Amino acid sequence: MVIGVVKCTEENLVALVPQVTSKLIKDEYQIIVESDAGVASGYSNELYESAGAVIASRKEVLSKADIILTGTAIEKTDLKQITKNSLLVGKFNGRVESNMLTDLREATAQVFSLDLLPRSTIAQSMDVLSSLASLSGYKAVVTAADEFAGYFPMMTTSAGTIPPARVLVLGAGVAGLQAIATAKRLGAIVEAFDVRTAVREEVQSLGAKFIEVEGSQEDTTAGGYAVEQSETYIKKQKELIHETAVKADIVISTANIPGRKAPVLIENRTVAAMKKGSVIVDMASASGGNCELSKDSQTIDVDGVTIIGDSKLYNLMGKQASLLYSNNIYNFLKYILKDGKDNLSYDSEIISKTLLREEEKSAVSA
Ligand code: NAI
Repeated sequence: MVIGVVKCTEENLVALVPQVTSKLIKDEYQIIVESDAGVASGYSNELYESAGAVIASRKEVLSKADIILTGTAIEKTDLKQITKNSLLVGKFNGRVESNMLTDLREATAQVFSLDLLPRSTIAQSMDVLSSLASLSGYKAVVTAADEFAGYFPMMTTSAGTIPPARVLVLGAGVAGLQAIATAKRLGAIVEAFDVRTAVREEVQSLGAKFIEVEGSQEDTTAGGYAVEQSETYIKKQKELIHETAVKADIVISTANIPGRKAPVLIENRTVAAMKKGSVIVDMASASGGNCELSKDSQTIDVDGVTIIGDSKLYNLMGKQASLLYSNNIYNFLKYILKDGKDNLSYDSEIISKTLLREEEKSAVSA
């Protein structure tokens, strides 16, 4: 069986790193890799060749591979090259980027989108969202610290004492918890907020203060995700976030609701009242943003407050992001392939949730 890797043209990510390529070759798969597929994330063609892979053109990879691996970047023209029975595995942002899903509808291959994996114990080792969110949460704090014109830890010097920075984290999922841990390690005072009260203990165990608004809607059937909140709750929540954010030096926002626009948590009036020199990193910018003023993939200055809109901060850590992404893909392949053949059981939640079937594709992109 031939596994092909095509270049992710939109991200510093490659779906198989050379270490994982070697493992698959030991398992008797043939690997073909699009020329320069790994260069942006620090893996040269030579490293793949040493691992036993063959370097080829994009067209060759798409037309020869039984399984095609990528990130998000598959174009309409690519779909025409793919052979009828092949499997395509990537992360096609099923939650927000519906244009891509419309393009994938044209595919004759079976398409698996790993960003739709269930949040279950068995799927944990394949969970690409967790891998990338964790890196992004770390990088959000490091990026904010770099932008912020002050110390994170308390500094006592002969010239006086500088108080620690105050960090507010909105959304304590995978990225938020990593942001809290990173900000604490750097010595900041950290406060965090989430609509899911289940995360209170996790936040507190990392040494942060959990800010709570009573009356949140929680749904235990939502797969661990948040659900939309009532008008009254949203009003109370915005007020509390306003009061906390104006005292903060850094706000890291990560709040998302799958399949919906991100909730607006930082209003214009909050930004206007924040201290000059403070920094907001809006990691939900690709799905509409948690801050009213943030712009996706841009850093802007609003009256002395820096607002960084970036939902893909893992791009700044391409080498490690690719290693984790590859391991997730390897674990997924091991799950779906038995005896060198695809062995798909539609009873499996992992398969039924990630496989983009015609009716599901239409539903998400409608
Ligand atoms: P996400 O990226 O969808 O959202 C990030 C955070 O924003 C969540 O904690 C969510 O509750 C919060 N949020 C949403 N609306 C909000 C609002 N209005 N105000 C404040 N916060 C808001 O979530 P993520 O990080 O992907 O994780 C979701 C859940 O899945 C978590 O419980 C996590 O522990 C769980 N999980 C389970 C895994 C597994 O068992 N395989 C793997 C990864 C995550």
